[in-house]
Amino acid sequence: MDLDDKVVVITGGAQGLGLATAIRLAGKKPRIVLIDTNPHQLAEARQVVEAAGATVSTWECNVSDEDAVDKIFDQINMHNGRLDAVINNAGVTRDALLLKIKEGVVEKRMSLKEWNQVIDVNLTGTFLCGRAAATEMVKAANGGCIINISSISRHGNMGQTNYTATKAGVAAMAVTWAKELAEQGIRCVAIAPGYIGTEMVLNMKTKALEKIAAGIPVRRLGQPDEIARTVEFILENEYVNGRVIEVDGGLRV
Ligand SMILES: NC(=O)c1ccc[n+]([C@@H]2O[C@H](COP(=O)([O-])OP(=O)(O)OC[C@H]3O[C@@H](n4cnc5c(N)ncnc54)[C@H](O)[C@@H]3O)[C@@H](O)[C@H]2O)c1
Repeated sequence: MDLDDKVVVITGGAQGLGLATAIRLAGKKPRIVLIDTNPHQLAEARQVVEAAGATVSTWECNVSDEDAVDKIFDQINMHNGRLDAVINNAGVTRDALLLKIKEGVVEKRMSLKEWNQVIDVNLTGTFLCGRAAATEMVKAANGGCIINISSISRHGNMGQTNYTATKAGVAAMAVTWAKELAEQGIRCVAIAPGYIGTEMVLNMKTKALEKIAAGIPVRRLGQPDEIARTVEFILENEYVNGRVIEVDGGLRV
């Protein structure tokens, strides 16, 4: 896909990996649509991405709100006359052990609230935005590409029962959609980042971060632009489809 003048939607685009992706793609002059729940960050992101070369519009929206998501994607297609790519990137963590056990006694359990908060945004949000995007892509009849942001955690990670379930889910959905939508010229791919230096990760304690970096074969966290470049590669290479691309400095063995 040549990104010039194409319409690219990025959920969770106000900061972190979503914003880094928008900035990286902006140099190719697409029309970028940023969706996020944070209006102040969205306004700042818009300025930065416009300065990097793209035409930008923003929508304040919770990706787990079915009506809002369907309306926004419909509007995006109506306004632009096309929809070429969607990066399902919005995500949250609510880490907790399944059971916190001390001397054989269960002191605490991951709450249903912690479970549902992560499922709603990461899994249901990706489902809703992927479904809405595919609907509009079929209407516009120009093909397209959907990228789901998974995680190395999809293989299982302590303290992340909720998060790992969603990240395994969005990876599997990309493979499923690739099979279902290929006939419509729509490709679907997932990216599974390792530890990348965004707020989500940098909020951890310094000691914990040092320990994590020491365990990564390349001995450092990833940079947001290294994920953004993977998005760019997937969008531009039309033979990449139905796969989960791991970008983790060799951490996953
Ligand atoms: N940073 C990492 O190391 C890492 C590793 C693997 C996967 N990921 C995944 O990459 C994605 C981006 O992560 P990040 O590190 O940039 O996180 P981040 O917290 O910096 O940014 C996430 C963005 O999503 C937005 N968001 C949250 N809930 C939303 C909702 N309901 N609707 C719309 N927007 C919402 C936030 O406002 C924020 O702007 C997430 O899906 C995350 O799970 C990150």
